[in-house]
Amino acid sequence: MSNDVQALSSTSDWRPRHVAIVMDGNGRWAQQRSLPRTAGHREGAKAVRRVVEACVERNIPVLTLFAFSSENWRRPRREVEILMNLFLTTLRSEIRRLDVANVRLRFIGDHGAFSPTLRDYITKAEKRTMRNTGLTLVIAANYGGRWDILQAARRIAEDVAAGRLSPNDLTTEFYHRYTCLADLPEPDLFIRTGGEQRISNFLLWQLAYTELYFSERLWPDYDAGDLDAACAAFANRLRRFGQTSEQVARGDHA
Ligand code: IPE
Ligand code: IPE
Ligand code: MG
Repeated sequence: MSNDVQALSSTSDWRPRHVAIVMDGNGRWAQQRSLPRTAGHREGAKAVRRVVEACVERNIPVLTLFAFSSENWRRPRREVEILMNLFLTTLRSEIRRLDVANVRLRFIGDHGAFSPTLRDYITKAEKRTMRNTGLTLVIAANYGGRWDILQAARRIAEDVAAGRLSPNDLTTEFYHRYTCLADLPEPDLFIRTGGEQRISNFLLWQLAYTELYFSERLWPDYDAGDLDAACAAFANRLRRFGQTSEQVARGDHA
């Protein structure tokens, strides 16, 4: 890294406005201890609480957590059942604490496949916290990046068919309005725990210019110190958005 770039990086804001995390490694954490995979998921729920608290303390405005992907239905039926139960019981036990901490909860994904009880609870939790002004906590459940792009395309097609939208008016910015998270800043920092270096169909549209960070730590072991390490790495990245380093240093706007 040249001195110029380093000087520039050290002045950049260390705090991302939006952190998106693929919480991976629960199964391996359990396996290492000769425990059933589900013990890893339960321990993973505790890590969620730690990381949410850390984001609240650090005034990070938005945290998006990948809780269940559209492909996770392919796991053994028993594991899926346990994950769904854990999702509901964790929501029930945490909602008060989240509300008191001024957290606004949002859920993204195709919730049609969930039980009516879980769907109702999701709606209730969103309603209860909708006026909170602290951390926006987005839970991606039965979410897939391709599904998100597809549901946007479908709604755009409906608007075109109904005469509400002309195909000529469809720009990238306009398309963005139909995707999940349209009202939130795009993720600045993507973190994946568990050592794998892939996106696994998380936010595809939204990650176009996100800084990617991969941690070897298994999710149940993840804590505030790990989050700080990721934020420190983020603060040292030079985000060019297609420009040259010189343009970024001058503060040119494209
Ligand atoms: C992530 O941990 C949790 C979910 C996908 C729900 P995994 O269960 O994928 O853990 P590993 O990757 O098998 O260790
Ligand atoms: C991604 O993890 C999904 C979540 C963390 C919810 P996976 O464990 O499902 O990803 P792959 O299968 O290793 O790509
Ligand atoms: Mg995994």
